[in-house]
Amino acid sequence: MKYTRTLIFALLVILVAACTERKATTVGSDPEVEKRIGELISRMTLSEKIGQMNQVSAGGDISNYADALRRGQIGSILNEVDPVKINEFQRICVEESRLGIPLLVARDVIHGFHTIFPIPLGLAATFDPELVSEGARIASLEATAQGIRWTFSPMLDIARDPRWGRIAEGSGEDTWLDARMAEAMVRGYQGETLDTTSMAACIKHFVGYGAAEGGRDYNSTFLTERQLRNVYLPPFEAAVKAGAMTLMTSFNDNDGVPSTGNTFILKDILRGEWGFDGLVVTDWNSMGEMIPHGFGTDRKDVAEKAVKAGVDMDMMTFGFISHLEELVAAGSVKESVIDEAVRNILRIKFLLGLFEHPYVDVERGEAVQYAEAHLEAARRSAEESAILLRNDGILPLDPGRIRTILVTGPMADAPHDQLGTWSFDGQKAHTVTPLQALRERFPGKVVYVPGLAYSREKRERFDDVVATARRADVVLAFLGEEAILSGEAHSLADLNLIGSQSALLAALRSAGKPVVATVMAGRPLTIERDLPNCNAVLYSFHPGTMGGPALANLISGDVNPSGKCPVTFLRTVGQAPMYYSHNMTGRPYNGEKLLSEIEAEAGQTSLGNTSYYLDYGACPLFPFGYGLSYTTFSYSDIRLDSQSYPVDGTVNISFKLSNTGDREGTEVVQVYVRDVVGSVTRPVKELKAFERVTLKAGESRTLQLKVAVAELAFWGLDGVKKVEPGDFQLWVAGDSASGEPVAFKVK
Ligand code: GLC
Repeated sequence: MKYTRTLIFALLVILVAACTERKATTVGSDPEVEKRIGELISRMTLSEKIGQMNQVSAGGDISNYADALRRGQIGSILNEVDPVKINEFQRICVEESRLGIPLLVARDVIHGFHTIFPIPLGLAATFDPELVSEGARIASLEATAQGIRWTFSPMLDIARDPRWGRIAEGSGEDTWLDARMAEAMVRGYQGETLDTTSMAACIKHFVGYGAAEGGRDYNSTFLTERQLRNVYLPPFEAAVKAGAMTLMTSFNDNDGVPSTGNTFILKDILRGEWGFDGLVVTDWNSMGEMIPHGFGTDRKDVAEKAVKAGVDMDMMTFGFISHLEELVAAGSVKESVIDEAVRNILRIKFLLGLFEHPYVDVERGEAVQYAEAHLEAARRSAEESAILLRNDGILPLDPGRIRTILVTGPMADAPHDQLGTWSFDGQKAHTVTPLQALRERFPGKVVYVPGLAYSREKRERFDDVVATARRADVVLAFLGEEAILSGEAHSLADLNLIGSQSALLAALRSAGKPVVATVMAGRPLTIERDLPNCNAVLYSFHPGTMGGPALANLISGDVNPSGKCPVTFLRTVGQAPMYYSHNMTGRPYNGEKLLSEIEAEAGQTSLGNTSYYLDYGACPLFPFGYGLSYTTFSYSDIRLDSQSYPVDGTVNISFKLSNTGDREGTEVVQVYVRDVVGSVTRPVKELKAFERVTLKAGESRTLQLKVAVAELAFWGLDGVKKVEPGDFQLWVAGDSASGEPVAFKVK
């Protein structure tokens, strides 16, 4: 009997422990912080709790908000960047409200605050997480010095349709690259340990927003749970594991459910499976937009749906502040739900140290902006983000052979447009343009004739430019997109160089001199028709404040290009969406003839019989991972340490990389894997590792990379994530379309 009692007691102890154990936290809950949160919540009125859940865009006069601040009706503000005003907002909260709870001050610091780095798509092209993390850290140093402690970045939306303007803001089409960049930016923004230079990261837009049908912003998405779990969710999970403190819901409805009211993704996955205990904020009025979505009847209805789905803070619908109190009074929403939301909000404020340090030192803040080290890091980022797409040898320019350089094009001296989208706080006076930098790099040799004043300009003749080109030894044409053509709500149905830019290139060609085109854009444009008019093409996704010096260093050869395509470059917009990690299909394209190769009398036999376009085929202009250098690299002796691996094993890869050219260069080595047969069809290949390797001219090096077999797991037919034994193929190459596969098995 005694034994039985002991056994029952032991079982009870285990049961109680299991019930009270909190999910593994991700924001890093500190028992002392949790105690302070509980103590503070116990003193808050329902109205004050709901006030914390209210975020307000606070441009303009503080007096408009003073009363609400004193009554504790605002928990966070965005879009105020004047440190003096931010201090005043905080002072009213801390010194004049009943509980003195400081504000969480937010801003879209997307690719730099004052010092602007390349747009995130350009940062992804570096394939250099450490450099990207350094840039995010610098953004935090500048922004926190002015009182901003929360950024709505990184944007993790996988984008496979360049018609979508926001492809500029993310890390491109690939899940693995996106996840590595997400981790890097979270680390950079928040810092290795939280202190007053930490800015809470906000991973967005949760989830699937980049799959907007037709590439048209805000449009519906139709991603299956399996596609979400295998492609779109992993970067968010990686960022949560990296400690991301906040998350933003997306505008889109996926499979009929707007994310801001989607309990499955916000509770079951985010909180239940991943243990996320940070703050969930809506996108701008995305709660209110559930009414036009047809998912809610009015603001009270959508406020109830959002809070029950797991939203903690409302950005600019005013649904919570207007209706939650009555919803609680009516018993529609439990106060415990409010308490959980407020707990998540206060956790961020405590962990950021806002209660101890709500104010900023305005003078110190000024000194941090545009620091030399920040500009230097921005220049390195712009250098590594540029992709050499074509070069017949004209680059790098040989100063000895060059007497006159014609600089032309609408992006040659466009200090605002060069910064790209979401660069509100980047002051164009600090931008160094290609024209300015080239004049410094090649003193006395540069002649500037714009040709076009801005990218959309339409012009019939270019006599002035052509005449000057005839007198030059080389033409450097800077083309692309004004910043306004890129970013939110700026989807395009035509991806050719806009305006008369292609006509400018054709006119320049007629002058008979070598033409180097540098394209600065927020997306991969369809430039195939321009290639015949270019001896070289350098692609620079809006490179930021220091884009000019970076491009001058690349064009002069002081720096060797190393960027790689983070997204597929299409031959024509009609190929969209196109991405490298597509499924094989039952009729994979196998080089079938294009219309241009078929004789006139083609008869009535059906052509092709595989998955491709008769007119443009099934291959891109430039594949994911592609990028040239001023040197060349070769891969050889690719070996695996076994022919088969257990599901918990590690594939150890060794290979020799050789720099077969005449100058030092950096190659981004890429490892792709294909699961040949699965319980569901699998992509033709997926990136599973990459590394930047620098070799001297003529140097060869045997290198090792590894892929944990666990990274080959996927959500299969049974809805479980696991590695399925069978045949696999592995590539080690310089882009997603090169190399020969090496086979291995998982048993
Ligand atoms: C915008 C964007 C979001 C941004 C927010 C605040 O509509 O969708 O990415 O962070 O509003 O500016």
